[in-house]
Amino acid sequence: MTVGGGRDTAWWQSAVVYQIYPRSFADSNGDGVGDLRGVIGRLDYLRTLGIDVIWLSPVYRSPQVDNGYDISDYRDIDPLFGTLPEFDALLARVHELGMKLVMDLVVNHTSDEHPWFVESRSSRDSATRDWYIWRDARDGAEPNNWGSLFSGSAWEWDQTTGQYYLHLFDRKQPDLNWQNPQVRKAVQDTMIWWLDRGVDGFRMDVINFISKADGLPDAPAAPEQRFVVAFENFADGPHVHEYLAEMTRAVFGGRDGEFITVGEMPGVTPQQARLYTDPTRGELNMVFQFEHVSVDHGPAGKFDYRGLDLVALKKALHRWQVELADTGWNSLYWNNHDQPRVVSRFGDDDPDYWAASAKALATILHGMRGTPFVYQGEELGMTNFPFRTPQDHRDLEAVNFHRSVLETGGDEAAALAGLAKISRDNARTPMQWDAGPNAGFSTGEPWLAVNPNHTWLNAAAQIDSAGSVFAHYQALIRLRHDLPVLVDGDFTPLMEDDPQIWAYTRSTSTAELLIIANCGRDPRTVDIGREWIDAEMLLGLADAPATLTSASLDLAGWDARIYMRPVR
Ligand code: GLC
Repeated sequence: MTVGGGRDTAWWQSAVVYQIYPRSFADSNGDGVGDLRGVIGRLDYLRTLGIDVIWLSPVYRSPQVDNGYDISDYRDIDPLFGTLPEFDALLARVHELGMKLVMDLVVNHTSDEHPWFVESRSSRDSATRDWYIWRDARDGAEPNNWGSLFSGSAWEWDQTTGQYYLHLFDRKQPDLNWQNPQVRKAVQDTMIWWLDRGVDGFRMDVINFISKADGLPDAPAAPEQRFVVAFENFADGPHVHEYLAEMTRAVFGGRDGEFITVGEMPGVTPQQARLYTDPTRGELNMVFQFEHVSVDHGPAGKFDYRGLDLVALKKALHRWQVELADTGWNSLYWNNHDQPRVVSRFGDDDPDYWAASAKALATILHGMRGTPFVYQGEELGMTNFPFRTPQDHRDLEAVNFHRSVLETGGDEAAALAGLAKISRDNARTPMQWDAGPNAGFSTGEPWLAVNPNHTWLNAAAQIDSAGSVFAHYQALIRLRHDLPVLVDGDFTPLMEDDPQIWAYTRSTSTAELLIIANCGRDPRTVDIGREWIDAEMLLGLADAPATLTSASLDLAGWDARIYMRPVR
């Protein structure tokens, strides 16, 4: 099974993107929350890392119920983060340093405090009533059985106008009605406004949710289930491709420059992703799929944590490599602000294995075909936080989930264990800059506790240290820029059913790479084939030989290597 290769590449196909979650990145004014000036102060660090593009999580005006993913003004900066002139200064500096900046576009929903919704809920015949999804009660209750992704019903009753509105997320995040052309135009105008300001593209929040199933039908439910989150009712809906193509035409059509778009798409299949990212269809450059970050979820959802099945994880990522190769393009990610830290999730955060496992997982991901995304702190191997009590969590998804478990008489201990492992707050603890107070993140009290391991796990300890996780990410990013085979080589999986070794090749007509990692503590000897004798090691342990002298490769615990050989 060998696929892909041999096409002209666009600039973003050899780029590496770095995600900043501004609230937790760097605080310049001591209020305990990160801000734009804090980001400006750390741009040289990102330059040193070598990344090409910054994706900035939302900094727009917002009540901050979902940390900015609830927007009340798309054309202003929340005072918590700074001002528009400060944003302009950030953008100018990013460009001076030769990087690009991508905004987070959250337009499946707004905040309920957005003037569009305030107007919409004011009366049944308000000018923007139809900008949101309003329905009458059914038999005195919710219009259908849809559940919110943040627990409970997806409908909220509005007393004033006597109807329910739909919110796939929190009740303070009402869904926009994309069937209304005025809504689509308003979104396009917002995007154009930011592009005119100089931004280089958009990461689009849950963008495959914008077209709901016609008629909003009930989801199939077991008798005891009152509300159901059924992706088939709102993901990849009937008009989504039409809306995205229209958006891309209206916003990017005729505009000169180098832009990048990536759509976040829970539940998306490779078949759908081929449509979204086929360049001839003019929708998006790439999507974030969720298969590999769902392999440890149980039947009751993400907090029903089932442990890691490495073979399932491999197969999930390999499937996307294979099925999205001749058409479309993959994004590659382990982490973002919604996922727990990969070292603690799929690696080994025991201090003896932490660094090696962070590097091995990075090697595996960055060896694949697609555009890699690095989430702040991942380049240091930041780990999960030792969450214990319900009060430790700030995220509304976690808080709502805990509340619903108590309300429905569920198992609280199991819920807390699931939360500790999978909660989004694991990703959101402050960036660990140094060993000093609050990890150098803030001079004030941070909004979320700093991980106690910052005393030894921090940027200052790693930046100039050969062999650090940071140095490893630097090397991987350099390889992505320098090696065409890493960008566009065919992908061939090896030893897919091996529960410990993760290996594959990438090849073009002139070069072949072997990417191999031991995903466990026990050493392993692997027969890799005689064709690899004399291959050059591009990345691996400092004391490993620079070229291979045998077809049998000895790998230490969490040892990962990249070898290259010419193809004759
Ligand atoms: C996306 C965001 C997440 C947010 C949700 C609702 O999944 O990444 O942080 O809570 O959408 O906007």
